[in-house]
Amino acid sequence: MHSAAMSRYKAVLFFMVFACVMWIVLLYNFLTATSYNRDSFLILPFPDHFRLDGNLTVPVCACTWKKDSGLIPCVYRTGKQMQTTNGSRLHLAVVACGERSGEALVLIKSAVALTTSFIVFYIFTDTKQHSFFVKEFKSWPSAYLERVELRLYPDTYPDMQNWKHKFAPCASQRLLFPSLLRDVDALVYVDADAVLLSPLDKMWNYFSRFNSTQMLALVPEHEDPTVSWYHQSSKIPYFGPFGLNSGVILMNLTRLRQVNWSSTLVQYHQVYEKNIVFFDQDLINIYCHFHPERLYVMDCSMNYRVDHCESRESTSGSVCKSAEWNGAYLLHGSKRSFKNVPSFKAVYRAFEKYKLGDNLLSGLLEPLQGELFKIRENHRKKSSCDHLPMIFLRHFMMR
Ligand SMILES: *[C@@H]1O[C@H](CO)[C@@H](O)[C@H](O)[C@H]1NC(C)=O
Ligand SMILES: *[C@@H]1O[C@H](CO)[C@@H](O)[C@H](O)[C@H]1NC(C)=O
Ligand SMILES: *[C@@H]1O[C@H](CO)[C@@H](O)[C@H](O)[C@H]1NC(C)=O
Ligand SMILES: *[C@@H]1O[C@H](CO)[C@@H](O)[C@H](O)[C@H]1NC(C)=O
Ligand SMILES: *[C@@H]1O[C@H](CO)[C@@H](O)[C@H](O)[C@H]1NC(C)=O
Repeated sequence: MHSAAMSRYKAVLFFMVFACVMWIVLLYNFLTATSYNRDSFLILPFPDHFRLDGNLTVPVCACTWKKDSGLIPCVYRTGKQMQTTNGSRLHLAVVACGERSGEALVLIKSAVALTTSFIVFYIFTDTKQHSFFVKEFKSWPSAYLERVELRLYPDTYPDMQNWKHKFAPCASQRLLFPSLLRDVDALVYVDADAVLLSPLDKMWNYFSRFNSTQMLALVPEHEDPTVSWYHQSSKIPYFGPFGLNSGVILMNLTRLRQVNWSSTLVQYHQVYEKNIVFFDQDLINIYCHFHPERLYVMDCSMNYRVDHCESRESTSGSVCKSAEWNGAYLLHGSKRSFKNVPSFKAVYRAFEKYKLGDNLLSGLLEPLQGELFKIRENHRKKSSCDHLPMIFLRHFMMR
């Protein structure tokens, strides 16, 4: 009797000591993992080996990062949709940290407004911002809710700390998608400062053009050698004559996992670290330089930027001819053009004001058209982009 109580007492004591030690270890891991030191930049346990055994389709709001199981998102969707859709889902990822949430929402709204296929959104954002997205999501008419699913992810987790501050806040996640989103076959990544001008399906269909070795699709950084950063100044190996812009990336994650994408990037990073300026975009350029057979080069209208209409090479400033003829599919507000270039700003504002459910013609296209023509006629500080309103309108008109 006495010795049984004794051994029970020992077991409890042992357990308590064990629990304390575990606590200290966990606390230590937590503290060391979240403190970031710019000087000791080092890529740590890079997650090619991450396992996601969390069931991502279960509507739980765990929204956590676990060292062993990877990322588990908060999933928001309505009940009906699982029965109505089968395989044909489009996947769109966006990273929206800090100030970027408002912009990301405008992008998401443009995708939902123009696309009739089912879209799963992967939103990486500060956990504090989650309620912002959910609140907006809940305000949408049910006809839209039935064809979207929101998966919200935290913007930060221990192994990422060193990457996170290296470039624009949180822009590095896109490099980690193959490892973080283990149950996703393919997705389109788009920078938060962008709006779609056409259904997402058109861009998604590029996946079907991939040959057996292609797994990424991007748009060149420039069409014009006189201003190409990569051509003129960069010291890294880059793709093609002008490099690639990482604002829009089609990623076949299944194939990227098969070729150990993440660990290859780690190796390139170690070799070229000193010459890297645009962190993740440079890494993608280096990767595609050495693996051109894995890249599909998309047309400039899929990632239309101010560089395409303010170019010094052409007298009109316009170097993306396909967008002049057919319109831009996606407008990317890089270089703060949604704030500084009148016509870019007008497009962004039009989507920002538009309420899902309102008539697209009278609620979006007509006011935008009026605004763009007014800018072309009257605006004092005109950009050469403002002379080409049809680039922004053509896709709407063809709907
Ligand atoms: C995910 O969860 C759903 C609902 O609980 C279940 O039916 C399904 O089998 C699970 N899938 C996997 C891969 O565990
Ligand atoms: C969904 O898939 C099931 C079987 O896989 C099929 O019977 C059904 O017709 C599909 N539904 C739609 C809407 O495609
Ligand atoms: C991605 O690649 C895998 C493996 O080759 C293929 O089965 C899948 O259909 C591809 N996904 C898309 C969207 O093309
Ligand atoms: C990827 O890594 C795994 C394990 O590290 C290795 O077995 C495999 O051969 C690698 N694949 C390629 C294509 O390098
Ligand atoms: C796929 O296309 C790329 C780019 O044109 C090319 O480099 C590669 O060799 C092609 N792969 C195959 C298997 O044809």
